[in-house]
Amino acid sequence: MARRERTHQVGRVDRDYVEATSPALHPALAAIEEAAEPDGIPILDRESGRVLAALAANRRRILEIGTAIGFSTLWMALAQPAGGTIVTIDPDRSRTDRARSWWRQAGVPDEQITVVTARALEAFERREPALDGPFDLVFIDAIKTEYPAYAAAVIPRLSPGALIVADNVLWSGRVADMEQLDPTEDTLALRQFNGGMLSDPRFVASILPVGDGLLVATYRA
Ligand SMILES: C[S@@+](CC[C@H](N)C(=O)[O-])C[C@H]1O[C@@H](n2cnc3c(N)ncnc32)[C@H](O)[C@@H]1O
Repeated sequence: MARRERTHQVGRVDRDYVEATSPALHPALAAIEEAAEPDGIPILDRESGRVLAALAANRRRILEIGTAIGFSTLWMALAQPAGGTIVTIDPDRSRTDRARSWWRQAGVPDEQITVVTARALEAFERREPALDGPFDLVFIDAIKTEYPAYAAAVIPRLSPGALIVADNVLWSGRVADMEQLDPTEDTLALRQFNGGMLSDPRFVASILPVGDGLLVATYRA
C-alpha cells in the first residue's frame, strides 16, 4: 500500500517557531558556535544540540567520540544531572584545550568532563580505563568510516537502557541517494552503520531527520 504523503513538510516557519520558543541559548554555547564557523570546525547544529540535551537529561555517565571545541559536550554537560560525568575522546588537543575553556566559562566543574586525547579505536583497543563504562549514553560524532567499529566497541560498555546517538547519519542527503554512481567510503560506512543499528534486535532505533540526521538507539538489555 502506498505511503500516505503528508501535505505539510517541516520547513522554515516550523524551524523559526522551534527557535523562538526554545529556551535562550547559553552564552557559552553561542560563543562556541561563533568561534567554530570562521575556523571551519564542524560542530553539531543547534537543533540537534537541543535534541541531544533532552536525551542527556537523566544520563549520569556519558561517553562522547569526537569533542572538537566542546559544543555537543557542553549541551550534554548542562543537561545531565548533578554528579553526572562525561568522558570525551578526541586526538586534537588544540581543540579540546579550547573546549575546556568554554566549559569553564559555562561553570562546568573540571571533574565533570574527562578528555581522552587519542584516536577512539586505539583507546578502546588499549583498554583505556576511562572507557571501561558502563555508559548511559554514547554520542558518536567523529570519523564516519569508523562508525560501525565505534558501535562494536561501545555496545559491551553500555548500561541497561542506554542510548547510542550518532550525528551525520544522513550525510547531507548522500546516504539516502541510492542513484549516486560512486558513493564515498563515508557514505557506505554510514549506510552500514545505520542498517546495522536499525536491524539489531538488541536496540530500538530510529533516525531523526534533524540537522544532518541523528540516529537514536535505545539498548533493550
Ligand atoms: C565533527 S567534529 C566533532 C564535533 C563535536 N561533537 C561537536 O558537535 O561539537 C569531529 C571531531 O573528531 C575528531 N577526531 C578525528 N579523528 C578521531 C578519532 N580517530 N577518534 C576520535 N575523534 C576523532 C576530530 O579531531 C574532530 O574534532
